[in-house]
Amino acid sequence: LAGGDRELLLNAIRDVADHPRAGVVFKDITPLLADPHAFSVLTDALAAAVTRQGATAVAGLEARGFILAAPAALRAGVGFVPVRKAGKLPGETMGERYELEYGTAEVELHTDAVGPGDRVLVIDDVLATGGTAEASVRLIRRTGAEVVGVTVLLELGFLGGRERLLSALDGTPLESL
Ligand code: PRP
Repeated sequence: LAGGDRELLLNAIRDVADHPRAGVVFKDITPLLADPHAFSVLTDALAAAVTRQGATAVAGLEARGFILAAPAALRAGVGFVPVRKAGKLPGETMGERYELEYGTAEVELHTDAVGPGDRVLVIDDVLATGGTAEASVRLIRRTGAEVVGVTVLLELGFLGGRERLLSALDGTPLESL
């Protein structure tokens, strides 16, 4: 994002100290979502990424990724696919586990959500350690679909998510706005 729009979005993201636990500075996007101009600027930028990558579908990562991905998909004229936390999707699912600091988590996708011939852009709000995005890309690839990129609003560079994603996923293009 260029100068003015970048500043607009950065100013609409609030730092919340010690959430969800002591020592963590949480990036709160709710002020951005509450500002229709900022939200629209963000949606335009995400929709432009969809078009630029030639994506035929957008996958949003639960939960905040849904809020950003759905309007971007609609604006770009492609379908929206939810990647959900385990146990939420009603149909036949496939899952991928990933490591957390304590324990593991799992993301799931409907097996018929995307498949060979689809070009999928993954959208989320924040890339932190990269675990969620990495597992989501692996999951989508298992359907036979191509992942054409991962686009996030914010990247927490000091957590190494970019390196993890790029090395684990063989050069999947990663863009943070
Ligand atoms: C946050 C964020 C990303 C993920 C990034 O979601 O929205 O999806 O964590 O972390 P990582 O790069 O270390 O995997 P969270 O699990 O808090 O879920 P939510 O969107 O439902 O609040």
